[in-house]
Amino acid sequence: MAIIAVYSAKGGVGKTTIATNLAWCSAQGHARRTLLWDLDPLDGSGFMFALDDRRKRQARSLFAGDVSAHALIQPSSYAGLDLLPADSSLRELDSMLLRMGQRNRLATLAKQLSRQYDRLILDCPPVLNELSAQVLRAATLVIVPLPPSPLSARGFDFVVEEIRRTTKRPPPILPVLSMIDRRRSLHLEALAANPTWPWIPMVSAVEQCAVHRRPIGTFAPRSPAALAFSKLWDGIERKLGQLALIRPMEA
Ligand SMILES: Nc1ncnc2c1ncn2[C@@H]1O[C@H](COP(=O)(O)OP(=O)(O)OP(=O)(O)O)[C@@H](O)[C@H]1O
Ligand SMILES: [Mg+2]
Repeated sequence: MAIIAVYSAKGGVGKTTIATNLAWCSAQGHARRTLLWDLDPLDGSGFMFALDDRRKRQARSLFAGDVSAHALIQPSSYAGLDLLPADSSLRELDSMLLRMGQRNRLATLAKQLSRQYDRLILDCPPVLNELSAQVLRAATLVIVPLPPSPLSARGFDFVVEEIRRTTKRPPPILPVLSMIDRRRSLHLEALAANPTWPWIPMVSAVEQCAVHRRPIGTFAPRSPAALAFSKLWDGIERKLGQLALIRPMEA
């Protein structure tokens, strides 16, 4: 099972939008058994998939070992895609992880899911703390959404530094320009400066995901943004294939 963390220390950069749409592409476009794990107490991913939110306040218990992941996992409306939703109990997760003193608790829990799923996608909160350190240690690949602005570029430098600081074997990082408006010169400059980075257009169809509470591929499948998410996931699958080839030789 590959673990794809969608992470940034900055808020509002498009993490949940990217995580939810990529999870759908993974399950529906590539027939991967996919689990989307929401680690943000605000439960954005659960909202985006219109999950029944009556069963709540147990997400943190999973880390304590009081409940199993399978008791919390909920199916989405789409074949091959399940969710491990968040709730407000995750507000205390960071201090709990520090108290527990298990540096790889998240990786251990993820490993227990590897028989049932091919792809685990983590929708992360915008934090730099023990939880983010555990995410970065567990990840096979880290996707960092970057709106094209100098402040985002600074946030990206923080992530790169944090990965170096927290892991002995840093996972590859894939920056994604997350909100590109080609009418703006700053955005065009960001594209020109980073020609190999994937990018997602800034369009109202993407915002509509939170209105329809569905991934864009289900209601605007031929739109440029839906195609951009699909192309991004194709690239991630290729990258994961290359990593799988590299790892045994490294060992
Ligand atoms: N490509 C896009 N085009 C237009 N709007 C977008 C795009 N990507 C994200 N947005 C909008 O930007 C806002 C923030 O996106 P999102 O919630 O995905 O960010 P986030 O990084 O998960 O935020 P947080 O740090 O609060 O969890 C949302 O209103 C979303 O609809
Ligand atoms: Mg979010």
